[in-house]
Amino acid sequence: MQEKIIILDFGSQTTQLIGRRVRELNMYCEIVPYNKFPKDDPSVIGVILSGSPFSVYDEKAFKTDLSEIRGRLPLLGICYGAQYMSYTNGGTVEPAGSREYGRAKLEKIDHTDPLMAGIADGSQVWMSHGDTITSLPEGFNVIASTDKVRIAAYRAADEKLWGVQFHPEVFHSECGTQLLRNFVVDICGGKQDWSAASFIETTVAQLKQQLGDDKVVLGLSGGVDSSVAAVLLNKAIGRNLTCIFVDHGMLRKNEFRDVLRDYECLGLNVIGVDASAEFFKELEGVTDPERKRKIIGKGFIDVFDREAHKIHDVKWLAQGTIYPDCIESLSITGMVIKSHHNVGGLPEKMNLKLCEPLRLLFKDEVRAVGRELGMPEHLIKRHPFPGPGLAVRILGDITPEKVRILQDADDIFISGLREWGLYDKVWQAGVILLPVQSVGVMGDERTYERAVALRAVTSTDAMTADWAHLPYEFLAKVSNDIINRVRGVNRVCYDISSKPPSTIEWE
Ligand code: XMP
Repeated sequence: MQEKIIILDFGSQTTQLIGRRVRELNMYCEIVPYNKFPKDDPSVIGVILSGSPFSVYDEKAFKTDLSEIRGRLPLLGICYGAQYMSYTNGGTVEPAGSREYGRAKLEKIDHTDPLMAGIADGSQVWMSHGDTITSLPEGFNVIASTDKVRIAAYRAADEKLWGVQFHPEVFHSECGTQLLRNFVVDICGGKQDWSAASFIETTVAQLKQQLGDDKVVLGLSGGVDSSVAAVLLNKAIGRNLTCIFVDHGMLRKNEFRDVLRDYECLGLNVIGVDASAEFFKELEGVTDPERKRKIIGKGFIDVFDREAHKIHDVKWLAQGTIYPDCIESLSITGMVIKSHHNVGGLPEKMNLKLCEPLRLLFKDEVRAVGRELGMPEHLIKRHPFPGPGLAVRILGDITPEKVRILQDADDIFISGLREWGLYDKVWQAGVILLPVQSVGVMGDERTYERAVALRAVTSTDAMTADWAHLPYEFLAKVSNDIINRVRGVNRVCYDISSKPPSTIEWE
């Protein structure tokens, strides 16, 4: 049985980060809504309570009954989680005089406490809270302070219950990993046996059992998630898996051909469908970005449905949905930041059961699983690419000629990034075709041609991003190459906006 830590999510922006940090300790964990503790699951060995956007005394504050957990499993409350456990046991929590935000140094550490083992006085931690615990319930003791926060960490005497008002999951908390290791390994007794190899072994066995001899279809996009899902399923059920890769005409230059070849080399049973003509027809004259997305989404479903019906007796639809997609779709505060980009709507329409073998993995773990499965690095390290592809990078209406121009310019930029060793340093990159023409001069001739913008960003999750500070020499070379080699372009700009307030894509 795979032992696990449960993280009760009270809606903090950093809940996912807690999950990542625990997984980095090779300890399996799951994030569940604050009121959905799986009380009958014997594999749970400890519980972490996350932070929250609310104050414990807010009417809207998320409340949960911990009586089933207390005394049975070790508990660690972080920020709101710490305040909640203190407040509900008779402690007081009040608005902090000045918002306690930013770096602070731990002092007066109780070095005999197992949560604080190996953490030195003066260790930097990250604070971010508007409330503070002003008095603890009876039997709770302070185990660390900072200059502004007397109760930075506490423990309930004779009970495995701790609270920290700082955020150990945040990078700026130097001792954060040590503290989480102390909790997960020493206090909860975690064996740290979670790895890509162990995930593959258990998932393949589960898939074999779940799917038996059933037939499964999977939509491949060329991206990491769907590709890893396909290879994993292929390992479990072999030829009973049929993958469908649709070319909607908005892919990168030669991408359809190259990716299909990669998939065939991986031994996948894959059908490539060139439906670009249909998509071009549907998209003709459409300029509104959301209309473009809708047309492509619907067209994709139609083509996929048609192809899947050619396979006899399919029972399952497999998808490469990953953990952040699930957590974001479940957002308990109702603030969904990014909508789910997968092929929503398909299972209902086709009457298929859904199989999502990667739904509990983070992106870096998906990559680790891909590597362990022996997939080539260039597939694993591929930049994210939007489902509607170049359609949302051509501002205004779409024509085959514009797609050709953009594909050529994009190819020069992306190949350049690879040649200069910069590809792996950026999260994602691409070229945008602008709906402007500008005057230029080539030889003795005046030109009046298109402008393109280069976009390259650094990020860890696409929710925030910074423009990549690419070397000027590189930008100069790419600009020259594009203007000299791509007919129809005479001007190149570099997008230096960060997200927020901009977004990564222009549409
Ligand atoms: P934005 O532009 O919102 O993009 O900063 C965040 C990430 O999502 C990708 N993206 C999409 N992916 N369908 C997708 O599958 C879409 O409609 C879509 N729009 C944006 C974008 O490339 C970036 O990685």
